[in-house]
Amino acid sequence: MFSRPRLDRASVLALILGLVNAGPCDIYSSGGTPCVAAHSTTRALYSGYSGALYQVSRGSDGATTNIGPLSAGGVANAAAQDSFCASTTCLITIIYDQSGHGNHLTQAPPGGAANGPDPNGYDYLASAVGAPVTLNGQKAYGVFISPFTGYRNNAATGTATGDAPEGLYAVFDGTHFNAKCCFDYGNAEKSSDDTGNGHMEAIYFGAGDGSGHGTGAGNGPWIMADLENGLFSGYNPGNNPADPTISSRFVTAIVKGEPNQWAIRGGNAASGSLSTYYSGIRPAGGYNPMSKEGAIILGTGGDNSDGAQGTFYEGVMTTGYPSDATENLVQANIVAANYAVTSLISGPALSVGSHISLRATTPCCVTRYIAHTGSIVNTQVISSANTTAVKQTASWIVHTGLGNSGCYSFESVDTPGSYIRHSNYELMLNVDDGSMLFADDATFCPETGLDGQGSSLRSWSYPTRYWRHYNAILYIASNGGPLFFDATNLFNDDVSFVISAGFA
Ligand SMILES: *[C@@H]1O[C@H](CO)[C@@H](O)[C@H](O)[C@H]1NC(C)=O
Repeated sequence: MFSRPRLDRASVLALILGLVNAGPCDIYSSGGTPCVAAHSTTRALYSGYSGALYQVSRGSDGATTNIGPLSAGGVANAAAQDSFCASTTCLITIIYDQSGHGNHLTQAPPGGAANGPDPNGYDYLASAVGAPVTLNGQKAYGVFISPFTGYRNNAATGTATGDAPEGLYAVFDGTHFNAKCCFDYGNAEKSSDDTGNGHMEAIYFGAGDGSGHGTGAGNGPWIMADLENGLFSGYNPGNNPADPTISSRFVTAIVKGEPNQWAIRGGNAASGSLSTYYSGIRPAGGYNPMSKEGAIILGTGGDNSDGAQGTFYEGVMTTGYPSDATENLVQANIVAANYAVTSLISGPALSVGSHISLRATTPCCVTRYIAHTGSIVNTQVISSANTTAVKQTASWIVHTGLGNSGCYSFESVDTPGSYIRHSNYELMLNVDDGSMLFADDATFCPETGLDGQGSSLRSWSYPTRYWRHYNAILYIASNGGPLFFDATNLFNDDVSFVISAGFA
């Protein structure tokens, strides 16, 4: 006769709590494939982690502060950011590595293929407020990557090199993407340049890069792997019909690789389980064996190609090839974090269908309203004494945002079908061509005016940038930056407008 070992009530409770409280990196450790990089601006990825998640820098005085979780293992302290960044702008300057390897992500340096406007070739930093969400009801901010935005660590340690095995997962916004190269997270070249096939192993999310590389079913976006000189949806550098178009707001994306074996997996980060979209041998032509270099990128390609956009909430790199079972537990943990959308706006709400006019608040210009002359959006001196035709040039119809229903778009009263959009950083009045680019460029999110008056209109697609009048022309401007209208002098005044009922 033998007696089965029995667990008392306390032990059972401890086991259950351990499972519930374990973070993604605790789960990977239990599976024998520990995290060697762990990045998130929304939450701690280890149950015991209470250090800094990310650093923000504010526009008013350049001061920085670290944002940590509310408690060990918890959600980021968004209120601390909101208070530090009140009445000014904030950028995410560092995304800390929670794994203890020091693999922090900072502003991506110049690379072989940078094409943003910075004369020195650096990428933009992300706005700290572009991607608000809630996790189990608590507000947090993701990393909103506009084109030309990117983070990198070319001195990472402990990450996979050569043909060594690794696992990667990330949680993205499934609705924020484009078809440019390359919204990536993962392993890349240490030189910020293209050093050849197989020198990268990163998760890619988007609608392909238009180069004839990988695609999946439908029109995208797809989870693929950027293995350098190719986005791969499977073995062939072509179409894999088993790699589906992603339609969920939150997506868990997985890429993992080991000698002559790799896989793509994915699922809805807010519910359900993971599916495997590819699992099999490496592509031919320089990808077996791999020549991974171990640098870490977020938001760009390995050579710093930076035309892509997307939103990152959390992600890790492991050493070793994680089992599907381990990843399934990580997915359950992500689902339990309960990612959900929240408001993108603050300050006075706008009413869809109403007609509005917007008055400048800079002391020089308080009789000037946002108007247009043809396709040029400018400020003009306008009052109730002007003709109806003049008043109509300064009157705008509020619409639900064409690119995001949480924000707004503005149609001209005198030119129906034409909306205010940014193009090459200038506000233009253009006919809606129905494209995703137009929708993104014509969507703006009001905040309480940065100078304390009225509202400031943040670009949905470039959230470091706000409507700004500068020499009577309207731009999307950042509070400091490479373009002349990014000047910090008078920034808060120039981006704040009093919104009233439309002149017409
Ligand atoms: C509106 O009327 C004022 C006063 O007559 C005039 O100075 C101003 O130029 C007019 N604005 C426009 C845009 O015509």
